[in-house]
Parts: sequence; C-alpha cells; structure tokens
Amino acid sequence: MKSVFRDDILDGKVAFVTGGGSGICKGIAEAFLAHGMKGVTIVGRKAERLAAAADELTKKTGREALACPADVRKPDEIEKALEATLDRFGRIDVVVNGAAGNFLAPAAALSYNGFKTVMEIDAVGTWNVCRASFERYLRDHGGHILNITATLHYAATPLQIHASAAKAGVDAITRNLALEWGPLGIQVNGIAPGPIDDTEGMTRLAPGDVRDAMIKGVPLRRLGTVEDVANCALFLTSGAGSYVNGETIVVDGGAWLPGMAGFSKMMGVD
Ligand code: HXC
Ligand code: NAP
Repeated sequence: MKSVFRDDILDGKVAFVTGGGSGICKGIAEAFLAHGMKGVTIVGRKAERLAAAADELTKKTGREALACPADVRKPDEIEKALEATLDRFGRIDVVVNGAAGNFLAPAAALSYNGFKTVMEIDAVGTWNVCRASFERYLRDHGGHILNITATLHYAATPLQIHASAAKAGVDAITRNLALEWGPLGIQVNGIAPGPIDDTEGMTRLAPGDVRDAMIKGVPLRRLGTVEDVANCALFLTSGAGSYVNGETIVVDGGAWLPGMAGFSKMMGVD
C-alpha cells in the first residue's frame, strides 16, 4: 500500500523497538525503515524469531534491522541491547516500548505470579527501557519515547485485571516522563490501539466468534490494521507531532466509546 507520508520523513534516524519481532511493533519498525530511518533495533526474548524478523525487514526495506535478544524485565540485558545499537548505528532517536504479555483470566482465578508477570513485562519493562535509554543516550541528545498501551483500563475490562493495571501504569509513565524529561528535549507519548487484526493480541483476546462480535461493536465497523497503528507512530515521530507531549492517542475506530459492556457480553461474563 502506498504511504500517505513522504518516504524521507525519518531520514537518517534510528529506533529501538521492544516487541519489534512480531505484530504491531514489527509493523512500526517496518514503517520507520520505509520512511528513511537508517536502522532499527528490534528486541524480544525469542532469538530465532527476532533474527528472522530482522532479516525480513532488512530485505523488504533495503535498510538495516538489527536483532538484539533481551528480556525487558532485565535491565542488564536492555543495557547490552542499547550498547549494541549505538555500536552499530551511532544514535537512538526513537524508543518504542511495545513488549507486552497478556492472556484472558478471571481475577478470581488469576495467580499472584500471573498478575505480577504481566505487570513486570508491560509496566516495569517500559520503565526499565525508558530509564536505561535515558541514561545511555536520550538525556544528552533528546529524542522520542513512544509507549504502546491499550484502552482496557479507561473503564474496566473483564478477564483483564492484570493487563488493565499494567497499561494504566504505562500511561502514568508516559505523562510523568513527559513532564520531567520534556525540558531535556525528550518527547514522551503513547499509542493505545484497539482491536488490531492479524495480531497475537487479537488471537489471545478474541478467539473464534468473539472476533465477529467485536467488529459489530466498533463504530467504524472494522478491526484496525497494523498500518493504522504504524501511521500514528509516523505522525508522532516525524516532526508533524513535534508539539505533542504526554499524550496517548487512541487508534481504535471508536471501539472503547460504548464502554466494555459489549465485551463482557461476548465473553459471557455480563
Ligand atoms: C492464567 C496464566 C496464563 C493463562 C500464564 N499464566 N498464562 N494464568 N491464564 N492463560 C500465569 C502462569 O501460570 C504463571 O503463574 C505466570 O502467568 C507466568 O507464566 P510464565 O509462562 O512463566 O511467564 P512467561 O514465560 O514470562 O510468559 C509471559 C506470558 C506469555 C505473558 C505468560 O503469554 C508471553 O510471553 N506472552 C508474550 C506474547 C503476548 O502475550 N502477546 C500478546 C500481547 S497482547 P504461576 O502462578 O503458575 O507461576 C496485549 C493486548 C492488550 O497486550 C489489549 C488488547 C485489547
Ligand atoms: P505480540 O506480537 O505478541 O507482541 C508482543 C511482543 O513483545 C512480542 O514480540 C514478544 O516477543 C515481546 N515480548 C513479550 N515479553 C517480552 C519480554 N519480557 N521482553 C522482551 N520482549 C517481550 O502482540 P501484539 O498484539 O502485536 O501487541 C503489541 C503491543 O500492542 C503490545 O504492547 C500490546 O499490549 C499492544 N496492544 C495490542 C492490541 C491488539 O489488538 N493486538 C490492542 C491493544 C494494545 P518475545 O515473545 O520474543 O519476547
């Protein structure tokens, strides 16, 4: 599909994208490279999948994707991945926090560790990557942090207490860092996707018939695409969004507007 953006809007820049080995954040990494970035580091735990994704992105765009396996829960691994990025590309302009974990589970059955695991990947992991990239590069050079969040916690979503709490934490990180680091030339924003087709998130949260029911509940009557989210990332990081700070843009076709009552019905918990 032809992009609505000029293909050089991110000329010479570099991004560090957690969760970039699959789904939405792989799409963001591709859009960055297709719009002029000279390099993108993609981060995830599964080294083999990450290497295959980097290879695919490099072949597709003619620019370099670097695979750096790391767990966002482990600051030492993030630091190594940042170091490898700077060794290879010499700069980091955009940091995308997309690494996340999720599953459907009723609060009454969710284990202590199940809740903690999702908090640690989504919220603490986002903090770890923000803190490490600030220390290693952004404090002295400025840049843009983009946190991928959700709308789960705007009202309340059944079977999603862990992810709702984690993404609420992510949104707080977005606002607080925008406030504290804005004076250093660091913009911090978020994107909250709604239901995005062909992603792990949709497969896990909307199995079978739920997908069709979900489409009917979206005011725009379709699921989102990875490109819908990537376009928002391009807007925010290209300079077009240069005065947006501490904001989370919802890219969901209006899905959350009716509240989560419809979702509760679909999941049989109304
Ligand atoms: C209940 C579960 C569970 C499930 C895991 N747990 N899956 N509990 N239902 N389906 C519990 C385990 O029993 C364990 O607790 C604890 O969670 C940790 O599980 P591990 O498997 O050891 O964790 P780990 O290997 O770190 O894997 C993390 C994970 C996994 C989140 C559980 O699914 C993962 O790696 N996911 C990454 C990919 C992903 O989820 N993508 C979708 C993102 S979508 P106990 O007590 O037994 O030790 C997304 C959408 C948001 O975020 C909004 C959409 C609208
Ligand atoms: P996805 O493909 O599963 O993306 C999640 C990525 O995070 C994976 O590449 C995974 O790679 C990585 N990851 C998980 N745990 C990690 C860890 N501890 N350390 C490093 N990397 C880790 O899912 P997606 O659906 O595209 O979701 C992408 C983002 O969008 C997430 O932040 C999600 O919450 C958000 N979102 C998605 C939807 C949707 O409809 N899909 C809706 C709202 C919000 P490894 O397994 O290799 O580590």
